[in-house]
Amino acid sequence: MNAYEKLDKLREEALEGGGKERVAKQHKSGKLSARERIHFLVDEGSFNEIGAFVLHRSRDFGMDEQKFLGDGVITGYGTVNGRLIYVFSQDFTVFGGSLSETHAEKIVKIMDLAMKNGAPVIGLNDSGGARIQEGVVSLGGYADIFYKNARASGVIPQISAIMGPCAGGAVYSPALTDFIMMVQNTSYMFVTGPNVVKTVTHEEVSSEDLGGAAAHAMKSGVTHFACSNEIECIGHIKKLLSYIPQNCEEIPKSLQYESSGDEIRFELDKIVPENPNQPYDIRDVINNVIDKDSFFEVHKDFAENIVVGFARLAGRSMGIVANQPAYLAGVLDNHSSNKGARFTRFCDCFNIPLLVLVDVPGFLPGTDQEWNGIIKNGAKLLYAFSEATVPRITVITRKAYGGAYDVMNSKHIGADLSFAWPMAEIAVMGAKGASEIIFKREIKASNEPAKKLEEKIAEYTEMFANPYKAAERGFIDEVIKPHETRKKLISAFKMLENKVDNTPRKKHGNIPL
Ligand code: HXC
Repeated sequence: MNAYEKLDKLREEALEGGGKERVAKQHKSGKLSARERIHFLVDEGSFNEIGAFVLHRSRDFGMDEQKFLGDGVITGYGTVNGRLIYVFSQDFTVFGGSLSETHAEKIVKIMDLAMKNGAPVIGLNDSGGARIQEGVVSLGGYADIFYKNARASGVIPQISAIMGPCAGGAVYSPALTDFIMMVQNTSYMFVTGPNVVKTVTHEEVSSEDLGGAAAHAMKSGVTHFACSNEIECIGHIKKLLSYIPQNCEEIPKSLQYESSGDEIRFELDKIVPENPNQPYDIRDVINNVIDKDSFFEVHKDFAENIVVGFARLAGRSMGIVANQPAYLAGVLDNHSSNKGARFTRFCDCFNIPLLVLVDVPGFLPGTDQEWNGIIKNGAKLLYAFSEATVPRITVITRKAYGGAYDVMNSKHIGADLSFAWPMAEIAVMGAKGASEIIFKREIKASNEPAKKLEEKIAEYTEMFANPYKAAERGFIDEVIKPHETRKKLISAFKMLENKVDNTPRKKHGNIPL
């Protein structure tokens, strides 16, 4: 065998992973192979593998007799829609994709390259966790990756797709990245699996119920996307990449935009019901303001009282944070505060302007909320908006009450512009609650207390349940009709495109975690 033939043979061997049988088993369980996943992710012919011939160094338990080229992870770089990305794809057919010392080194190597060259890292996770035969060496490998994840946070975007098991401490690498996607029925994430759960708490629960895509999309909020299959998951990764820049020094790429003369959107006038207590879907507002079909919702099934996602306005990428009156009246609570804060911080890290739509009756009262930390969680949202230096614009579509008015990107905490629709109500609290407190004596002394209360409610409503008191103070820059919103926002974001806002010199802030 000459030198070229030897290389060809090794190359072929490296492509085989754990062998045909194991690949067939992988397919049978409804999963793509590690290489197929990369194939569907990157532009055709763009993938360049790094470290295909890496072998593990373990000798215990007969491991020196079992070696597979690449050691259970395919690493390299390629392009997605012409843009450079780095990728690692764990190969479950090799020792269950488990993480050895060398497997970890390969991941760290591409993360280092990604940091030096300023491009996103995409992790396709499918692994039985720490390589059991290697013991603490494997744990060290995980920690090396965690450290790199934390160092890369806010410098380059990091996206994790979970396409198989992800258990034990292994969950913490994806958790440190910016976005997690899971695939329904074939992936799960948990710190301890069903057997340990049963031993410790006597609960009986399946892997899917404990840590499947649905559980993490709806209950814990750990995953941002629950995809019905791997192809959809890969499609989501590509779509997500299209809204975000390569690194924190760049701005997201804009799409070519030509006005079709439809900036005035009369549909917007019909969305908010006349009765202020009636719900409506804030997505109807979003979709009528942004470029057609450009909304890419994030965390759709978690804390539905706030809607977050990416969109385009006149071709420009932006992040949207919006109260959702169709769910719990759009109230702010623990989960929705965390969701909004995390998304806001991502956008700010990567120079993505923010549009904030406000229709919020306040914070949710109750022991559940208080004991679970609504004070510190609400503060996270407040902190996230306050520290954001990207262009930020607020539109109050209806209610903006109490502390929630301040928190939802008010002018006071740095919004560049604040618009309100004419039916906006901006006050310390609702007219009924307010009247019952401040006119308590008058109402009690009246012969017809119910009538008196109605009168006082009307008086308070007239005085405060409108945007004009706030506009008088300059807290609202302009009261606009709903149909003018898109036009106003296009001009306003254009006006803000060169915004520079320097924060005071510091090591880093101390967000209330
Ligand atoms: C070495 C492993 C492995 C591991 C699986 N394999 N997990 N090899 N280390 N962690 C190997 C199996 O021996 C098998 O090899 C092949 O991968 C496929 O595994 P199966 O069990 O046949 O597959 P399946 O039935 O689909 O079950 C998958 C599984 C199960 C649920 C992941 O393998 C499993 O429970 N593995 C152990 C998980 C675990 O406890 N890991 C450690 C977690 S603690 P062959 O040769 O037969 O193909 C941890 C700490 C991280 O990760 C801490 C970081 C700080």
